[in-house]
Amino acid sequence: MSAIETTPPRGTRDFPPEEMRLRTWLFGHFREVARQFAFEEYDTPVLEAEALYVRKAGEEITGQLYNFEDKGGRKVALRPEMTPSLARLVLGKGRSLSLPIRWFSIPQCWRYERMTRGRKREHFQWNMDVFGVAGVTAEAELLAAIASFFRRLGLSEDDVGIRVSSRGVLHAVLTEKLGVPDEHFAAVCVLVDKLEKLPREAIEEDLAALGLEGALVDEILAALSLRSLDELATVLGPEHKVVVELNELFALAEAYGIADWLVFDASIVRGLAYYTGVVFEAFDRGATLRAICGGGRYDRLLSTFGGKDIPACGFGFGDVVIVELLKDKGLLPELRRAVDDVVFSFSESLRPDAVRIAAMLRKSGRSVDLVLESKKAKWAFKHADRAGAGRMILVAPDEWARGVVKVKDLATGEQREARLEQL
Ligand code: HAM
Repeated sequence: MSAIETTPPRGTRDFPPEEMRLRTWLFGHFREVARQFAFEEYDTPVLEAEALYVRKAGEEITGQLYNFEDKGGRKVALRPEMTPSLARLVLGKGRSLSLPIRWFSIPQCWRYERMTRGRKREHFQWNMDVFGVAGVTAEAELLAAIASFFRRLGLSEDDVGIRVSSRGVLHAVLTEKLGVPDEHFAAVCVLVDKLEKLPREAIEEDLAALGLEGALVDEILAALSLRSLDELATVLGPEHKVVVELNELFALAEAYGIADWLVFDASIVRGLAYYTGVVFEAFDRGATLRAICGGGRYDRLLSTFGGKDIPACGFGFGDVVIVELLKDKGLLPELRRAVDDVVFSFSESLRPDAVRIAAMLRKSGRSVDLVLESKKAKWAFKHADRAGAGRMILVAPDEWARGVVKVKDLATGEQREARLEQL
């Protein structure tokens, strides 16, 4: 028999306890920020109907689908992202939902990616989404949650920024000024998102395939080069809806105390087809890593699923890039295993007493590692040290005959005798 492969499938991770501690720590911060912003947690199956992800705009994500036919011949896929599942859930609940809702989750997502630093084939993605709010007050709330998360981890606005724009910028230029039909808008946005990765000719060919002129690239590049709201106001006019909206968002950011985290950058369009308005991405100012998180407004996703639209926006925040960044900045905590007590009996005849002591301590809420084998005291001390225990409770024959146990405080090294009720 040949030995099995002990590494997990390429691009996926095991979480042995030392890794799991870090994951739990990180998720704890995700959850705590969500709680502070009064978001409720939800979940959906990791397996979905493939149809949920069939979108024709040429997005990278659809080519990366982990999809297959199940034994019943149904086309299914592992979710590459949470947003379609959330939309399905909201659609299913229909009128029974009292809007607005603010929901969060931390799903594992699957994408058959080309792997680079910060990109894997599975990742956990903290999602926060608001359904039922049409204005940028929702975006501001989401951006504030992201900034609040960064702050909790010890990152400042010097370390991380959030680039903000709106698809409305491109829409204004392409659709309103240049007459590009609305039906092509999403596909053009997805193409524009690839501008940095693909040669110009490839983009021009793709535009031509949509029946659009290659020369549009120049107009697009000009629109994307805008880096201030004043410039934008000059191009679109100060009264333009997009200008007004972005100004409102940045004004709200002042009130939240997060203005220094935000950067207006018209080159942000995002690679997912469904965004319709404000879009944003957090980045490390050292510029060594991929996007830390990303999101935006998607007011028309429900109608693509055959439902009635509800305004919506949200973000996804992966667990991979942020850990790389914290590592680089020396901000990863040292997470030790934490056990309150190790209980050890010097002989097997004392085991029932040790068991009773462990049971009593556990009942009082303490975390207790009871030594389960016959071991030497020396081994038990080493074991307690490795377990990161606070105390050793030693059940020894002479002491126990007097109704006491030995208690060693492992932080101070102090040892004392105690009766059970004193533990
Ligand atoms: P996304 O930009 O595709 O958006 O992903 C959001 C975040 O998930 C990324 O910024 C990154 O942190 C993480 N991420 C994505 N792919 C990978 C990967 N292969 N490995 C590690 N991390 C990854 C969405 O998925 C949208 N559904 C977000 C959203 C929620 N928009 C509105 N609501």
